[in-house]
Amino acid sequence: MLYLTIDRGKSLPLIRQLYTQLRSKILQGELLAGQKLPSTRKLSEELCISRNVILEAYEQLLAEGYIEGRRGSGYYVAADMYLEQQARQEDLSIFPSGEAESLGSDIIDFRSGVPALEHFPRTVWGKIVQRVCQEAPLSALGYNRPEGRLELRQILSRYLYRTRGVCCEPEQIVMTSGATQALTLIAKVLLKPGSRVLIEDPITHDIQTIFRAAGASLHPVPVDASGLQVDQLPDPAACHPSFVFVTPSHQFPLGGTLPIQRRIQLIQYARAADCYIVEDDYDSEFRYDSPPISSLQGLDDQRVIYVGSFSKILSPGLRLGYLVLPRELVQRYQEAKWFSDLHTPSLDQLALGLFIEEGHLEKYVNRVKKLYKKRRKCLVDALHEAFADRVSIWGASAGLHIVAAFPGIRFTPALLAQIKDCGVRLYPVEDHAIAPGQHEDKVILGYGNLSEAEILAGVAKLKDVIQQN
Ligand SMILES: Cc1ncc(COP(=O)(O)O)c(C=O)c1O
Repeated sequence: MLYLTIDRGKSLPLIRQLYTQLRSKILQGELLAGQKLPSTRKLSEELCISRNVILEAYEQLLAEGYIEGRRGSGYYVAADMYLEQQARQEDLSIFPSGEAESLGSDIIDFRSGVPALEHFPRTVWGKIVQRVCQEAPLSALGYNRPEGRLELRQILSRYLYRTRGVCCEPEQIVMTSGATQALTLIAKVLLKPGSRVLIEDPITHDIQTIFRAAGASLHPVPVDASGLQVDQLPDPAACHPSFVFVTPSHQFPLGGTLPIQRRIQLIQYARAADCYIVEDDYDSEFRYDSPPISSLQGLDDQRVIYVGSFSKILSPGLRLGYLVLPRELVQRYQEAKWFSDLHTPSLDQLALGLFIEEGHLEKYVNRVKKLYKKRRKCLVDALHEAFADRVSIWGASAGLHIVAAFPGIRFTPALLAQIKDCGVRLYPVEDHAIAPGQHEDKVILGYGNLSEAEILAGVAKLKDVIQQN
């Protein structure tokens, strides 16, 4: 007997449900060549669905050649339909899982780096997009230059100087699809198999993946509460790195801000090693207890490649980011961007340009900064109240996440699963570690996209689980 299931609660039409199941049974050899399919009448009784549904599913399989019809006798599996299944790889993708799982569910998801999506300035952005659509020059509707629209790059260079102390001409900017594409282009231009990258440890796992995929070997440099431990960098004469990768404004994940002395030492190191520094400035606008720290790029614009993004200050869904490059690299990056996807969508760039130029971005950042400050306080206070001196907080002065360390506790997959069963999703620092075993007591708690009520409920649930362990 054939085991088939029909789920009327699914959005997939019944015909498609039946067709898909029969097709995979044929491909997987569960239904063999020459085997007769059940009659439409019999199957309709078994599955309690109309004969027409079954007939249509059979017709589809017939049209695609999976089965054959024999006059007066019914439907049979066609010959040579078995397709050996590839062994299933457990980890099919390098992409972080979980977003889809948590969206729309009741789980309290402390995923880092997601801004307050419900506060996205839909009305203003929408009006600007509409204006751009009506008024953009015809050239914006055609193929454009890989580095992006000059209008936006002019506005951006002024904005970056004003807010981040980045010194550049519009010609040094290449617009990208988020920081992620900027990092991929860096890997493409500067790395080849065997290249060396000196990189903060821990550091975003995705970034490690991008550099490793280009064949680079990663040399981890430890991080403390003030960011990269510059005195732990290897001998520049012996090392020959392609670049040093840093997140100096707000180290990801531990949250430190690189002090000026270390910044200067780092620039001196890069000069001695004759390598670049890649500065990933992914969320630096959100600094709560002091004004934003000026960029490393402002100290040496020909040594530092600056990577920026609008994912945290506006929305990751926009996929808008950029590179600010030393002059000698500009042309190679324009070529790499052209090879990758010609250019970033021009109308989006023009909308972003107006959004910045008319002052909406800075107004919006100031508004949400107040919101994040409250959420951060709520989270830190709740953790201290729940765990007293059994918790220590890292990196609370900036960004959209903190790290909480619970000395004596190991966030193993089993413990994380237990926490998730109670309705809270946490992200261990250890997942971002290159040298393992040093951060097992720490979790990253993103608070940007959680309400205060969710934060309080999440911490209460976490307390319940931790107390049992
Ligand atoms: C440190 C760091 N850099 C870069 C990115 C990528 O951001 P984007 O959305 O601009 O690709 C992230 C994303 O969370 C990040 O955490």
